[in-house]
Amino acid sequence: MIVVLMGPPGAGKGTQAKRLAERYSMVHLSSGDILRAEKASGSPLAGELAKYMNAGELVPDEVVVRVMAKALTGGAKDGAVLLDGFPRTVPQAQTLDEQLVETDDAIDAVVVVTADEDLIIERITGRRSCPECGKAYHVKFMRPHKAGVCDTCGAELTQRDDDSEDVVRQRLSAYKRQTEPVVEYYRNRPGLGVWEVDGTRPADEVTASLTEVLSALKAGC
Ligand code: AP5
Repeated sequence: MIVVLMGPPGAGKGTQAKRLAERYSMVHLSSGDILRAEKASGSPLAGELAKYMNAGELVPDEVVVRVMAKALTGGAKDGAVLLDGFPRTVPQAQTLDEQLVETDDAIDAVVVVTADEDLIIERITGRRSCPECGKAYHVKFMRPHKAGVCDTCGAELTQRDDDSEDVVRQRLSAYKRQTEPVVEYYRNRPGLGVWEVDGTRPADEVTASLTEVLSALKAGC
């Protein structure tokens, strides 16, 4: 089963993807996490990635497609896959389709988590995460027991380089310009379910809605 999780920055894709992947034993492939790991690795690609990511722009398609094809090949072998943040442009979606045809796979569903702009800014600027285990927090909505410290591993929480308000506005603009057309691309595909889930509600309610969608999909598989 392959599910594509879409939505603007801060809609809660990452938070929800982690929960769903655990519940349904799916491989969670987040293009943002994969690109951030590459950026932090100091590899020859790192400098180029930083230029785009720190400015809130999308990384060029040829780079993302190459990185994600590698991750997907490894992930698909293990069964169900949850794609988080990929594809993000129509050319990425087209390349993914071609790749899936080669492996006789197909996308089973697309789920779009929605949120409005003011909430997105509040969520993103308040986001903190653990550099050790990757657990996500929010200074207001999902506080750690001790301020600034990860509940799970005790590491000091950090803020992403691209989580300032001006960069978030750039990311939102990139989403509207380059990613919303991907939702339309999938909506126009006969037989493919495109579900919309209201991401403005408390995280547990959003999880409950997503669980309904995934359980229905699983039952139909
Ligand atoms: P990426 O890492 O994918 O960032 P994004 O899409 O902008 O999404 P976020 O991770 O910011 O938000 P989210 O929806 O996952 O929200 P979260 O759950 O963390 O991409 C980063 C960059 O990488 C891009 O800008 C681009 O440069 C590059 N990139 C990535 N993929 C690419 C691609 N395919 N092509 C080209 N370039 C690519 O939640 C946010 C906060 O809100 C957290 O603090 C959380 O605790 C809190 N929160 C979540 N849900 C709730 C809730 N229901 N109630 C209250 N608080 C909540």
